[in-house]
Amino acid sequence: MNIRTSLVLASIVMTGAFATSHAGFAAEGDAAKGENVFKRCVACHSLEPGKKKPTGPNLHGVVGRQAGADPDYRYSPAMREAGEGGLIWNDENLLAYLEDPRGFVPRSKMILKLPREQDRLDVIAHMKEHGGDGSAAE
Ligand code: HEC
Repeated sequence: MNIRTSLVLASIVMTGAFATSHAGFAAEGDAAKGENVFKRCVACHSLEPGKKKPTGPNLHGVVGRQAGADPDYRYSPAMREAGEGGLIWNDENLLAYLEDPRGFVPRSKMILKLPREQDRLDVIAHMKEHGGDGSAAE
């Protein structure tokens, strides 16, 4: 291999490494920052297991859970139907819902929007730390 070829190869490897780390960065949330974002949610939601609020469903274990699945909360018919139709709160669906709840589930009750993608990623990371693998869904 001559010098020219190895330079070309090195630059291909470096470009690949950059692209990978950049994509990883863009898709990741910071749970500590998400705790701060969640302050906008606490008027209506709790992340503590079993804690009831009249204003919104309990969000303990919500990541990975079926929509409309808190047995102690009276959801809108729209949200119940979305859950029965198979809507699962994975990262992708949460990102879309939190950006525009009524755009994603028409006629549902929540109106707060998080327009900044980083806020949404961070708050999802925070929720994952509270039973967020779906294991607490039962
Ligand atoms: C003013 C009250 C209010 C605020 C603030 C609010 N929500 Fe909600 N949220 C609701 C209501 C009400 C529902 C149930 C919607 C329905 O039944 O149609 C809901 C539903 C949800 C759901 C679906 C839960 C399930 O069990 O299917 C998620 C996830 C959610 N909210 C996340 C958030 C996050 C994250 C924030 C803060 C960034 C937030 N909400 C802020 C009222 C609120």
